[in-house]
Amino acid sequence: MTSELASFAFPHRHLLGIEGLSPDDITALLDRSEVYIEQNRQANKTQSLLRGRTIMNLFFEPSTRTSTSFELAGKRLGADVITMPVQSSSVSKGETLIDTAMTLNAMHPDVLIVRHSESGAVQLLSEKVDCAVINAGDGMHEHPTQALLDALTIRLRKSRIQGLTVAICGDVAHSRVARSNIQLLNIMGARVRVVAPRTLLPAAIDRLGVEVFHDMKEGLKDVDIVMMLRLQLERMQGSFVPSLREYFHFFGLDYQKLEAAKPDALIMHPGPMNRGVEIDTEVADDINRSVIQQQVEMGVAVRMAVLEALGRTPRNIAPAR
Ligand code: CP
Repeated sequence: MTSELASFAFPHRHLLGIEGLSPDDITALLDRSEVYIEQNRQANKTQSLLRGRTIMNLFFEPSTRTSTSFELAGKRLGADVITMPVQSSSVSKGETLIDTAMTLNAMHPDVLIVRHSESGAVQLLSEKVDCAVINAGDGMHEHPTQALLDALTIRLRKSRIQGLTVAICGDVAHSRVARSNIQLLNIMGARVRVVAPRTLLPAAIDRLGVEVFHDMKEGLKDVDIVMMLRLQLERMQGSFVPSLREYFHFFGLDYQKLEAAKPDALIMHPGPMNRGVEIDTEVADDINRSVIQQQVEMGVAVRMAVLEALGRTPRNIAPAR
């Protein structure tokens, strides 16, 4: 069981993105996460590091992995965790994001975990409350804990991140996962490629420190990691691809395209997957190559490390009037 006295340095009040983190910050979180991987594999998974602390999950967009693993992470650290049912909350009566946040803030949470469809919404909210705020995904901007759990998965399977070549493939334009991963992998010294049709790349791709490919076989040549992205149809207004069938033909990962990568290349996907659209179902379930389920396991460990880093700091409680 984890030592309850041991701690690690993380000099940030919030986790709003990978932007602003140093290699040491990322390494400290990943090192700490490894302790929690072990704890989560024990029969007794709970400790009392955050006993007395209150964590609130506030998801304005659907989630399975992130919301469940944050809830589990908080509970395994001994905190009181509340997942607010946004659909049946006063948000449905028109209450704004900031009013909702201020209302919850008045109940003295120690950590707010927020997912929202607007890029920048979580940062704005963090400026209004006096507890720690964790970005669980804001629009097309950042999803920092996804990038951290991906990095943990890579580090465990490849023993390093520095010097690896990682291909991030598919709908980069709409992907906060891609933006956070590109930043983290660059910070940690990996070589990053993106492979996508021109319609699914952001305008500023040249400034992100990546090599750009429009052909899967060229983009996957000799890579160590193939990271597939979900085609985010819900964020698309108009047609970005001719048809899903054609998209799979040119950009869906199947064994034929995978041949271009190194023989021991890992297959990753943040989930949820569109099977048969961005990834062939047999490739996704290949127990020798795909680490998609391991990514989910790492998600709990990483979120425990993040909650430990931010949840132990006493919140700024305004004096009673
Ligand atoms: N990867 C990810 O964020 O999954 P969820 O949308 O299920 O949380």
